[in-house]
Amino acid sequence: MPIGRIIPRSPSSTSSSICSFCERRLWRQNAALPRLQHQRRQISAYGYTQAKALLYSKYGEPKDVLSLHTHSISPAHSTRLTLRFLASPINPADINQIQALYPVRPSFTSILGTAQPSAVAGNEGVAEVISVGSSVKTLQKGDWVLMKHSGFGTWRTHAEADESDVLRIEKHGITPIQAGTVSINPCTAHRMLKDFYPLQPGSWFVQNGANSGVGRAAIQLGKLWGLRSINVVRDRPALAELKKELQDLGADHVVTEDEVLESRFPDRVKEWTRGGRESIMLALNCVGGKPTTALTKVLSPGGHVVTYGAMSKKPLQLPASALIFRDLHFHGFWVSQWAEKHSEERVRTVGEILEMMRSGVIADVPVMELEWGWETKEAVLKEAVQGTLEGFRGGKGVFVFKDE
Ligand SMILES: NC(=O)c1ccc[n+]([C@@H]2O[C@H](COP(=O)([O-])OP(=O)(O)OC[C@H]3O[C@@H](n4cnc5c(N)ncnc54)[C@H](OP(=O)(O)O)[C@@H]3O)[C@@H](O)[C@H]2O)c1
Repeated sequence: MPIGRIIPRSPSSTSSSICSFCERRLWRQNAALPRLQHQRRQISAYGYTQAKALLYSKYGEPKDVLSLHTHSISPAHSTRLTLRFLASPINPADINQIQALYPVRPSFTSILGTAQPSAVAGNEGVAEVISVGSSVKTLQKGDWVLMKHSGFGTWRTHAEADESDVLRIEKHGITPIQAGTVSINPCTAHRMLKDFYPLQPGSWFVQNGANSGVGRAAIQLGKLWGLRSINVVRDRPALAELKKELQDLGADHVVTEDEVLESRFPDRVKEWTRGGRESIMLALNCVGGKPTTALTKVLSPGGHVVTYGAMSKKPLQLPASALIFRDLHFHGFWVSQWAEKHSEERVRTVGEILEMMRSGVIADVPVMELEWGWETKEAVLKEAVQGTLEGFRGGKGVFVFKDE
């Protein structure tokens, strides 16, 4: 598979990475990881594939409950497939799921031969089909697939799946990281901009968590569709760089949570919207808490607030006047549920975004790649997961699997 140059495999390179999570040796920030062309797949003489999975048997903090488990996958038969994962992100919801703070809980089973029933962590990712059973009709070796449903367990080197579990994507011109991160964040941004209020070219929207994966996708999709955006981020030492980064993606205005809380913020917004004559009908809420309450004050009467995240872990408190006198509408959006209810629309949305990525009209979000090879130690993987709980990160953590 033509995905990179050859690097020698060095078992010590991974084990030496066991140290502070923040240490840059652990992560490669947006570097196109070199990948092995020489393939030494973990397949036995009898066709069994050796696999490793990060799994858990009880809920808790990832560092306490995750473990790396080795198991074998029998040769694919009937409508079964053997998959090799290429890239799987570490999304906030994956962590919440392990902590039992997420509404969907995986079934703990003994399928992988663990001492206690367990579930493989991770919900998003892209895998390559490496073998197919004789009754498989729609897929062949070499195809790239996404998971049709959340809860599949994507933090693993290989998996057995049924043909009906996966969705084939056109891999031409797409990197594993683009494919592995397409189905949650960009889809969420896409649907929230389209499905709650009929924004037209020139319309405004506001959002917080603007530097998140979803926020960056919303900025870029909005720009493509002619929308204008006011974007809120948390203050930080390198704020000017972040502002510039988001403006380069297409953000019209970038402000901090502290600026939103200032009493003059609504007046600044009026200056940007021709004295308030241009309405702001949509707000995307990733964060919650007081800055979000303040943000709703710049929405026009009848505007819509779509909450999709709660990164501050603070509730959204509202004055009754927002509902009674200003007729604001409050919604929640959950992409997993949307995908279950709109499976065909989901396929179209994923295809549309992949095409935007392929043609380069939307830029990749910053990611921190963690290379996962056969020799990668459990502690390194667990540390990578735990570290995503910290804020002010250089990008989303993504496991990138070595082909060996
Ligand atoms: N409902 C859905 O369907 C759906 C879909 C996708 C994502 N989400 C949710 O959306 C949120 C963002 O996900 P993502 O994958 O886009 O995130 P991400 O790329 O991993 O980025 C995390 C974002 O959260 C911010 N953040 C972290 N801690 C914060 C805090 N205490 N207060 C305010 N902001 C904080 C970060 O800002 P800093 O740089 O300032 O740390 C960053 O902007 C998560 O809550 C996730 O579960 C929901």
